[in-house]
Amino acid sequence: MKTWSRKDFLKTSLVGGGAALLATRGGLLAQGSANGDVRIGIIGFNAQGFGHLQNYLPGHKSKLDGAVLAAICDVDDKVLAKGREAAKQAGLTSVAEFKDYRKMLESKAIDAVVIATPNHQHSLMTIMALQAGKDVYVEKPLSHNIWEGRQAVEAAKKYSGKNIALIGTQNRSSEQIMNAIATLRSGKLGKIKWVTGTCYKTRDSIGLHDGPQPVDAGIDYDLWTGPAALTPPTRNGPKGTVHYDWHWFWNYGGGDISNQGIHQMDVARWMLGAQGLPKSVMSFGGRFGYRDDAETPNTLVSVMNFDSAPLIFEVRGLGRKKGMKAMDLYRKSSVGVVAQCEHGYINVAETGSAVAYDNDGKKLEAFEGADNGAHRKNWIKALQSRKVTHGLLVEGHYSTSLCHLANISYLAGAEKANVQLADAVASDLATKDAYWRMLDHLKANEVDLEATKPIVGPLLKVDAKTEMVSHTDQIVTDAANNSLIRKREGRGAFKIPVMQTGSMAAS
Ligand SMILES: NC(=O)c1ccc[n+]([C@@H]2O[C@H](COP(=O)([O-])OP(=O)(O)OC[C@H]3O[C@@H](n4cnc5c(N)ncnc54)[C@H](O)[C@@H]3O)[C@@H](O)[C@H]2O)c1
Repeated sequence: MKTWSRKDFLKTSLVGGGAALLATRGGLLAQGSANGDVRIGIIGFNAQGFGHLQNYLPGHKSKLDGAVLAAICDVDDKVLAKGREAAKQAGLTSVAEFKDYRKMLESKAIDAVVIATPNHQHSLMTIMALQAGKDVYVEKPLSHNIWEGRQAVEAAKKYSGKNIALIGTQNRSSEQIMNAIATLRSGKLGKIKWVTGTCYKTRDSIGLHDGPQPVDAGIDYDLWTGPAALTPPTRNGPKGTVHYDWHWFWNYGGGDISNQGIHQMDVARWMLGAQGLPKSVMSFGGRFGYRDDAETPNTLVSVMNFDSAPLIFEVRGLGRKKGMKAMDLYRKSSVGVVAQCEHGYINVAETGSAVAYDNDGKKLEAFEGADNGAHRKNWIKALQSRKVTHGLLVEGHYSTSLCHLANISYLAGAEKANVQLADAVASDLATKDAYWRMLDHLKANEVDLEATKPIVGPLLKVDAKTEMVSHTDQIVTDAANNSLIRKREGRGAFKIPVMQTGSMAAS
């Protein structure tokens, strides 16, 4: 018996070759391209989004079967021109162009969107796309703050009978990591004692400028800003005043923990087998080694306690020593995750390669499997089967929220003398250990902690249900919960729709 694919179904449903109403997908009235390919709209394609765009260009080496580019959207004219040219070169003559994604979402010419805009737009665009009846691939991290991420998860639940939403934390499709986790769960290595995620990645100064910087005439800055506070850019590094360096400003990003770090945070939480948020979080760090426009720390240690074991996360933007580009290694990786068990440990590197060692560092097993290029293929499978198996939005929300919690403790912290920091970490072995590692690293970079004091965040209790935090000092509790990384409701026409119902909606 022939199994009918979406393509077959759409082919037989075509009436007169027009883009007519074609099929029902779990209740959704779907439309498709003439050959039944899913029609994709890309939102934001300066860098990461351009790779996505190429996935849907006929003849491109990274073309994904079953889907085709139907529309492009970017607020920057120069970026739009690059997309237009790429589509033309690929022989696509009817790709629609938009500067305003809200107009794109109204279009009947697309079935699904890929969102690769800056972080502060991810949740809002995900919700609006689902409301408009589109399927969604949203880049990591899911959100700019915990609350809006929860709204996106609730939207995915609400529309789950009609549309799918998937998050681009691509390690979720790595067979190597899945096999490594199966070994962890088998208990062969004994119980997990702790998991450490590292994001040691060079992040140079972005330069120091005075006051507001100009925005290129071709950029619609109001649309670029979306739900964030509308303020002129105050950066002007090698990437210009608008693109990419937003990562280092709280209004848009969350520093490297929410940039590169979210990938390792996701793997760390997955290895730990922790579903949801930790019981507590505490962070310390600073922006050391240079003075520039940026706000987020380039050095951060966060310790999160789960019922099963602690998760320690370390960010370093400075090199191995002053003037050096090469980064420190932690158990063989600069960017990676180590799950330490009673009888050995597993190291997952940035590439996704996963290896088990005994406690003397002798290799026990290298895990096999397809690499993480599989995630985008799994997205196409999800579009066809109408079910997300890798990259569930709720998993993205929890892992993203761990990054946010780490930043919330940091933001609620204060500059302290190094001796006070030493005191604050003295009672917890895992935290103390990470503190000493950070001190060695800063010493090698000739950072004087008397001149640039570390910021020490409070130990915050986390309420997994309300996704809020608390401290014995009410002032600290309020400061932490009022942090824009905990909750921001959006701005004017870019308010985040409240998708939670009942009493939770107010939190
Ligand atoms: N999965 C991964 O491994 C991976 C790797 C790199 C980046 N990313 C993610 O991809 C996203 C984009 O990263 P990037 O480095 O390309 O950033 P970028 O700043 O270089 O590009 C973002 C693009 O989005 C456009 N944009 C902004 N607001 C828009 C709006 N309202 N409508 C349409 N377009 C809009 C900008 O004009 C720009 O062209 C980030 O969230 C990042 O975290 C993921």
